[in-house]
Amino acid sequence: MQQNTVHYLKDYQAPDYQIRQTDLTFDIFDEETRVSSRLNVEPVHTGKPLVLDGSTELVSVKLNGQAVEQYGLADERLILENVPAEPFILEVETKVFPDKNKSLMGLYASGGNLYTQCEPEGFRKITFYPDRPDVMSKFTTTIIADQTRFPVMLSNGNKIDGGKLEHNRHWVKWEDPFNKPSYLFALVAGDLALTKDTFTTMSGREVAIEFYTRAEDADKVGFAVESLKHAMRWDETRFGLEYDLDIYMIVAVGDFNMGAMENKGLNIFNTKFVLADSRTATDADFDGVESVIAHEYFHNWTGNRVTCRDWFQLSLKEGLTVFRDQEFSADRAGRAVRRIENVSLLRQHQFPEDAGPMAHPIRPASYVEMNNFYTMTVYEKGAEVVRMYHTLLGEAGFQTGMKLYFERHDGQAVTCDDFRAAMADANGIDLERFELWYSQAGTPVLDVDACLKNDVLSLKVKQTVPPTPDMAEKQPMLMPVKVGLLNRQGRAVPFEYNGKKMEEAVLVLEQAEQVFELKGVKEPVMPSLLRGFSAPVHLNYSYSDNDLSLLLAHDTDSFARWEAGQTLYRRAIAENEAALAAGKPLPQHDALIDAVKTVLQSDVDPAFKAVLLQIPAEAELWADGENIEPLRVHQAREALLDKIAQSCEAEWLAQNELAKNQEENSGLAQPYEYEPQQAAWRTLRNACRAFLLRANPQRIGEVATKYDEMAKNMTHEWGVLSAINHVEDEKRNVLLEQFAEKFSEEALVMDKYFMLTALSRRSDTLVKVKAALQHPKFSLENPNKARSLLGAFSRNVPHFHAENGSGYEFLAEKVMQIDTFNPQVAARLVQAFNICKRLEPKRRALMEQQLQNIAGKEGLSKDVAEIVGKILS
Ligand code: TRP
Ligand code: ZN
Repeated sequence: MQQNTVHYLKDYQAPDYQIRQTDLTFDIFDEETRVSSRLNVEPVHTGKPLVLDGSTELVSVKLNGQAVEQYGLADERLILENVPAEPFILEVETKVFPDKNKSLMGLYASGGNLYTQCEPEGFRKITFYPDRPDVMSKFTTTIIADQTRFPVMLSNGNKIDGGKLEHNRHWVKWEDPFNKPSYLFALVAGDLALTKDTFTTMSGREVAIEFYTRAEDADKVGFAVESLKHAMRWDETRFGLEYDLDIYMIVAVGDFNMGAMENKGLNIFNTKFVLADSRTATDADFDGVESVIAHEYFHNWTGNRVTCRDWFQLSLKEGLTVFRDQEFSADRAGRAVRRIENVSLLRQHQFPEDAGPMAHPIRPASYVEMNNFYTMTVYEKGAEVVRMYHTLLGEAGFQTGMKLYFERHDGQAVTCDDFRAAMADANGIDLERFELWYSQAGTPVLDVDACLKNDVLSLKVKQTVPPTPDMAEKQPMLMPVKVGLLNRQGRAVPFEYNGKKMEEAVLVLEQAEQVFELKGVKEPVMPSLLRGFSAPVHLNYSYSDNDLSLLLAHDTDSFARWEAGQTLYRRAIAENEAALAAGKPLPQHDALIDAVKTVLQSDVDPAFKAVLLQIPAEAELWADGENIEPLRVHQAREALLDKIAQSCEAEWLAQNELAKNQEENSGLAQPYEYEPQQAAWRTLRNACRAFLLRANPQRIGEVATKYDEMAKNMTHEWGVLSAINHVEDEKRNVLLEQFAEKFSEEALVMDKYFMLTALSRRSDTLVKVKAALQHPKFSLENPNKARSLLGAFSRNVPHFHAENGSGYEFLAEKVMQIDTFNPQVAARLVQAFNICKRLEPKRRALMEQQLQNIAGKEGLSKDVAEIVGKILS
């Protein structure tokens, strides 16, 4: 059995060899691709063996033109002893079999075309190489293939040469003038349609924009092209960063493990984040396209020009780039609502991760399989940490820090400490204590008390960082806590802090317990805390329900307003849970219902209204609880939704009419161009639909007769189907099957069909999900399909957590099946079991049994083994 080695940050050692130049040749044939690489190797520390990573078929090795006969080949490494102390040329030939590669890492085939995915350690599946990000080299790539099957042949940088060969073959040579690590290498070859555009940079250079898709998808790239141009302009205006090559290419592929990949000059994207039109994509899909296109583009500076020294530093590029894409989306439209969406995502997915067996700091201290550390923590909490620098330093200070970061590190592979040092040095401040965000996992808890005496409001803040499996004792962290004050009428009350008069202060918390004094407070006030969610923490303050209603109605900070509503919902659900546990009748929640009616009747921005009406999800509700009864939490939440649906039915009807009119009056009933304000009305309308169907499931009859009129675009079609998806009525099946029929040729829409199938609360869901596995348009090998059906099923609380364990058993079986060909996808899915130890004993036992089954499976990947091992330990 292969030993699953643990890699530690503390063991980092600088490379013994650098590669000055890498020249690759790919000779593509039907069954195999022959890869020749020619490396200019430069010893850094002499006398050491040259170690190359590789897990593919080795054909030959030459050193300075001489065949090397003696080398070590074991554990996915090629080891050459006694190499020259002077720079030398190493030539390596390998063979790869892309058609057989279902892991979608390295070189693989999809729909007859070839694509690569190298981050983090896929390059070693192509050739033997020091496959680590601190080895940076200039690359040329020559591709040779049949010109009928592979008319398009792409790699990083600029095309510098090419021509025809005999036997209907042709060749092309690409050159990337920038140094880069192997993980940013990319190659695409196949029969693809090209959509062209251009962008003129701020210094007046014209950049060619090229999007490559299947021919039948070419009419769906317009929005992505525009998004790219917006992102390029935004990075110039907000960050002063300009694109650096003469060409920017994006290729869309249907089989892809993640969202997209920022390979230098040649991004490769999951089709889900490129293709969008109003018939097949929802507004949320359009948003996703815009932000992922921006994210990958922003990596060109934060990731590619300055890269990571080692994979422990992943958040250096990912946290920063997520922060940048969040800011881009916020500047594009609706800063307040975007911020709330970021927080909601963090709470639903990152907080549970931080409270579970996989808990790790944004800079992990160790890993077995790096692919397992592309996590919500590294990405989303990482972005929150970057946002805290921004909150502490302000926009100007933050940008000064960014400038120094690029001055110091352009062209280098660096660490999170280097980033922090640039921020501190540029602003002349000490950020020593801030380092703890990089080394301590767990979501800190703030307990706040307020006391008003002699016109001074004393805010006492206590912080605790909970123990996590990787670390028991934690130290207090440094974080910004943004606060304001409201009087009893809900008006902002100014105060004096640090000798200055203000209405909002950023308190800098850095001790376990700290008291902040806000002076000149001459009337009774209520604090508005953690405005804008200024730090990724849990905050406790003993607000009364009335306080919360006041904050919800009046706070000038939209996050704090939303949060007040969320707290009211959480309290109501907790009350329902207690009643259910005690077998008592459910409470009426009169105050909450009044608050909901007030929101519904208010004229706040529709996008904001829609988020105010969102009830926290189960994953957020049980967060770090113990002995969780998943179905009870679910029922308590459902009961609140039912109550809100029924008690406000008239208001929902009125709101639905209003949203409908708003949409039709602005000519939106026709196929539309995505636009945030219009999308907001559609979101609100879909929320109304869901509540109306809940209030009276008989409304499915009306939906069935008016379906075509209601479902004019995918946003509405998805909204209507989501609303009726739980109704135990044959009409639901008919509508769902019609949908599948209508879009049978649209892979991304079929993903939605499978998702609806898996998300239904109807009693026959597991049966339908199992049947869907046999659907002609389903394929377990396609990650989007696997995630749509199985990932969605694992989030379907009543079915996944079914009392008899059938949900757990089903998922475990599929995880083991997928693991045989795509460990990365299997390891994602298996994390639905992360909650195991927090469950009530019966379900915990059922889940453990499934985890033991998986753990005992022969040939289990290290990806899945690492996760399952952590859950069970
Ligand atoms: N660097 C990519 C991003 O965040 C992430 C990524 C894409 C990735 N594909 C991957 C990570 C495959 C691991 C494996 O933009
Ligand atoms: Zn990224």
